[in-house]
This record gives sequence, C-alpha cells and structure tokens, in this order.
Amino acid sequence: MTSLGGKKIILGVTGGIAAYKTAHLVRLLIKAGAEVQVIMTPASHQFVTPYTLATLSKKPAYTNFFNAGDQGGTWNNHVDLALWADLMIIAPATANTLAKMANGYCDNLLMAIYLSAKCPVMVAPAMDLDMYVHPTTERNLSLLESFGNIIIPAEDGELASGLIGKGRMAEPETIVTSVTNLFNANLPLKEKKLLITAGPTYEPIDPVRFIGNHSSGKMGFDIAFEAAKQGAKVILVTGPTNQKISHANVEVVHVMSALEMYNACHKYFGNVDAVIAAAAVADYRPKTVATEKIKKNSEEFIIEMDKNPDILASLGAIKNNQFLVGFALETQNEIENAKAKITKKNLDLIVLNSLKDEGAGFGKPTNKVTFIDRKFNIEPLELKPKEAVAKDIIDKIIKHYE
Ligand code: PMT
Repeated sequence: MTSLGGKKIILGVTGGIAAYKTAHLVRLLIKAGAEVQVIMTPASHQFVTPYTLATLSKKPAYTNFFNAGDQGGTWNNHVDLALWADLMIIAPATANTLAKMANGYCDNLLMAIYLSAKCPVMVAPAMDLDMYVHPTTERNLSLLESFGNIIIPAEDGELASGLIGKGRMAEPETIVTSVTNLFNANLPLKEKKLLITAGPTYEPIDPVRFIGNHSSGKMGFDIAFEAAKQGAKVILVTGPTNQKISHANVEVVHVMSALEMYNACHKYFGNVDAVIAAAAVADYRPKTVATEKIKKNSEEFIIEMDKNPDILASLGAIKNNQFLVGFALETQNEIENAKAKITKKNLDLIVLNSLKDEGAGFGKPTNKVTFIDRKFNIEPLELKPKEAVAKDIIDKIIKHYE
C-alpha cells in the first residue's frame, strides 16, 4: 500500500549537478507507487546517465523527439506524454531552463512537453547562489509562479561550488512530500487526524509463549490506508502483524499487549478527531509473566488471568468531540450485543462482523459488516473486499464532517 499509487508523473531532469539526486528521487516516487516517465535535457546527460534513470524508473528515459530505429524510428509524442501525466516535476531546474519556461522557448522535448502540459507543474530550482538571487532568476521564478507552476524553493547549504548559501535543490524527500501534499490538497479529510487500531494483542505467559488471537491486522491497515488516501493524518496503533503500509500520512506505532495498546491510544487520543478501533484486543492477560520458560512438569497447567482495560470504553468515557467507531466481533445475538457495546463504550458507530458469515472476520480478504449508529439505525452491507469495507467506513467519517 503506497501513497502515490497509480499517479503518473513526468520527471524532467535538466543539466545541473543536482541531477545526480534524481536517481534517489525516482526511487522514492516509484516506492510511493507512482509511475514515472523521465524526460532529460541533453545537458543533463553530463550529470546522470539515461540508463541509470531508465533502470530505476523501469521505462526508457527520453531526450529527443525521435528515437532512431531500423524502421525509421519512433516519435516521442510530446502532446501524448503531456496529457498522460497527472503531474510534471522539473528537478533540478537550471537557470537556463527557468528562463526558457518563463519565455516560452521550445528547443527540446522537455520544453515541448511543458508547453503542452495541462497537469500541475512543480519546479525545483538548483543553481549557484549568485545565480539564484540574480534579478532575472527571481523574475523568472515569480513569472512561473504567476503562470500557476508550483515552486519548491531551493534550500540553504553547501553548494557544489564550495560556496554556502541558497541554491541547493530541495532534497528528494522534500519533493516527494510536496507531491503527496499536492495530491492531498483537496481531499475531504485533509484537516483531520485519525487514531486507528489494528491487529491482535499478545499477552505474554513466559518469554516464549503468549495468548493471542487470529486477527491478521488487514482490516485495520486497509482502514488506515483509505483514511490516509482521503487526506487524513493517521496514527496506526497495531499489534503484531505481517501487514505493510507505506504512506506519508501514516505513522505506525507497534505494540504487543493490550496494556501497551491502551497506553499508546491514550497518548494520542487528545490530538485526534476520530478513532476507529479494529484491533482484536485480548480481554484478559495472565496474572503473572514467568521470567523463565515454564517447564512441562505437571499434567495440568492453569493460568490465572486479570481483566485488561477496555481501551475503547476508556476513550469513550473521556471523549470530547471525537467521533468513535468501534468494531463488534460476535458469534450470537449479534445486533443486540453490538447495540449494547455502542451504549457501554459511548460510540458513534459500530461495525458489526459476525464469524457466522462466510467470508467475514479474521484473516480473510473480505468482510461482511453491518453499521449501527448511535440512534440504532441498522445498515447491513454485502460481502466485499476489506479495502471496500474500509472505504465504506471512511465514507461515514467524511459524511460526519461534511
Ligand atoms: O485483522 P483481520 O484479520 O482483518 O480481522 C478483522 C477483525 C475481525 C479483527 C475486525 O473486523 C474486528 O472485528 N475487530 C474487533 C474485534 C474485537 O475484539 O471485537 P470485540 O467485540 O471483542 O470488541 C469490541 C470493540 O472494543 C472493538 O472495537 C475492540 O477493538 C474494542 N476493545 C475490545 C476489548 C478491549 N479490551 N479493548 C477494546 O478497545
């Protein structure tokens, strides 16, 4: 799961020393799920090779309008390329390229694509400090901004010339954050912070054994990813799981036991707008945890247990305006039990899943849930992939804030 999944990005590379950083930039964009088409100016070949960027982007890096070939070659159609892209990034943008962009010059493939582009264009200038503060560069940058381009300002620091000052291209990580923020700018949850719990908890018995459950974490991770896709900042508190998530908006907090999950949730609760508790939290934990591995000396082994705190109920008891969504995993009297949980835990919405429903619950790629709100309105949904259930849940949060 990645933050720029499906986004098509043209990366224009021009002839400055910072071009060497574009190898890392391409990797980060690809890792974030973007499809990247590299377009290079001829001068940029002096600083980074097309083969490097083609290998990393998994596509040929284009420089010319025509690729030579046995049958007369192929044409890199600048209009098609421009229309293909969801975003164009020009990094590094040299003083020369800025001047061309500001004045409509079209003497290479990159400039032809720029002039044809209908998508947003981001520009990350890089040059020596005297060039950066020269009035023509400043004028060109403000002209480009007035045309609607997004400037990612150069940073202060040591420059390739040895001088110290402004002119270093923004770090690839900073560029990727700007890209992610751009795609998030109009998203419905962009102002919201969500706390999401996922996975099982493990309650230790001794250094090698624990009491756990079958939660894979998928449901919670899918919800976290969908929330982040809709612009929310997400704190994902998860028990042990093999699930992976990679999104600039998601901070993952790993915990093991119910008590650790309790502490983590209370740490973040005061700063969030909503909570979605998809974790399968153990209700009891062994009274004592042996410091050494317990030997199998007797025929019977009894574990005394203490009750764990109910994390969600404890949040419900202190909530201000937070919107609280709980899950209910039931095997009998499903609706009645779920309704009782809404009241007991002071929830705004409960997502009921029953282990009696085929394809629902633990470990499956699908789930079949019923929403029950505070007024006990009941909305049963059909069996669907957990990603789609996650979307339905996040839609409820979006509607609440509309
Ligand atoms: O992880 P997957 O394999 O994808 O499976 C998803 C799931 C089945 C785990 C998920 O859909 C689900 O139902 N999660 C809640 C499981 C559960 O513990 O249900 P419950 O009815 O026991 O708890 C009710 C609610 O209180 C839940 O939101 C739970 O997170 C919370 N709770 C429970 C006990 C406790 N001590 N603290 C809590 O916060």
